[in-house]
Amino acid sequence: MKRLLAAALAVTALSTFAQGFPGSKPISIVVPFAAGGPTDRVARDLAEAMRKTMGGGANFVVENVGGAGGTIGATKVAKAAPDGHTLLLFHIGMAATPALYRKLQYKPLEDFEYLGLINEVPMTLIGKPQLPANTYRDFEAYIRANSGKLNLAHAGLGSASHLCGLMWQHAVKLNEAMTTIPFGGTAPAMNALVGGQVDVMCDQTTNTTGQIEGGRVKAFAVTTPKSLSGHKLLKDYPSLQEMGLKDFNLTIWHGLYAPKGTPAAVLAQLNTAMKAALKDPAFVQKQEGLGAVVVTDKRMEPEAHKAFVAAEIAKLKPVIEAAGKFAD
Ligand code: MLT
Repeated sequence: MKRLLAAALAVTALSTFAQGFPGSKPISIVVPFAAGGPTDRVARDLAEAMRKTMGGGANFVVENVGGAGGTIGATKVAKAAPDGHTLLLFHIGMAATPALYRKLQYKPLEDFEYLGLINEVPMTLIGKPQLPANTYRDFEAYIRANSGKLNLAHAGLGSASHLCGLMWQHAVKLNEAMTTIPFGGTAPAMNALVGGQVDVMCDQTTNTTGQIEGGRVKAFAVTTPKSLSGHKLLKDYPSLQEMGLKDFNLTIWHGLYAPKGTPAAVLAQLNTAMKAALKDPAFVQKQEGLGAVVVTDKRMEPEAHKAFVAAEIAKLKPVIEAAGKFAD
């Protein structure tokens, strides 16, 4: 009888807690990279859409906690109070960093609640405006002819831009051909590229489309299996597979997470609001305009999201180990 009473009280407390959620306290979405970059862009567009779909005057704020390929921001959320007010928006780095950081302070599949996958973003291989190459073939030949003299910008070991650079150099057998230069995100890296301080970068279309359109950077190829024929600007660039890099395929998925132990009813409220946001025409239009594809399949659901990340961790481990470079 006592146990039944205790259980009933717990359920009442939980539903009262969920009923009261989020209340007036803002919900912070932690972005583990610098403001103004591709991950920040997804988070701000999603926050805007979820303000509408969550209702009840819910207020979402974006908090940028950059560094170490995204692992500093992810650690912050793994250790945050499981009350639904601190979330993490992280990308493929969630799956890449376990193989790179052997002393990671969290376990991606154990220390987080999964709220669903949001989108998938192709990447573009780009160069500073002064780079003496205008086609992918010229670009690869130039890097090969200047092995050891050029540099590659990225957002830290384990970041999407780092992973892409690593995979491309591996695929064209130009390992270590370029010095890698880490930044707190691809927003500051992009400023350095546009300014000619760095030579090459591989970055998400959500961050490159505007720069390519403005002629501030040169683009050479996209990382999807086929060229992006449906995109008004990016359709002009070949895919790396079309350039002979067999099986080269990299898109950057983004997911939403909460600290382990966040109440189920709160997770359900957040997941429902997130799924509705992914159907918001304004959100979809913004994302697609930048070459991203918004998720519409079962990976919007926590279980399928988690299964997908587990599969990605298994897929990326041998790729990263093949490169033989670790962050710690
Ligand atoms: C960013 O938002 O800066 C990027 O996602 C970083 C990266 O992983 O390349």
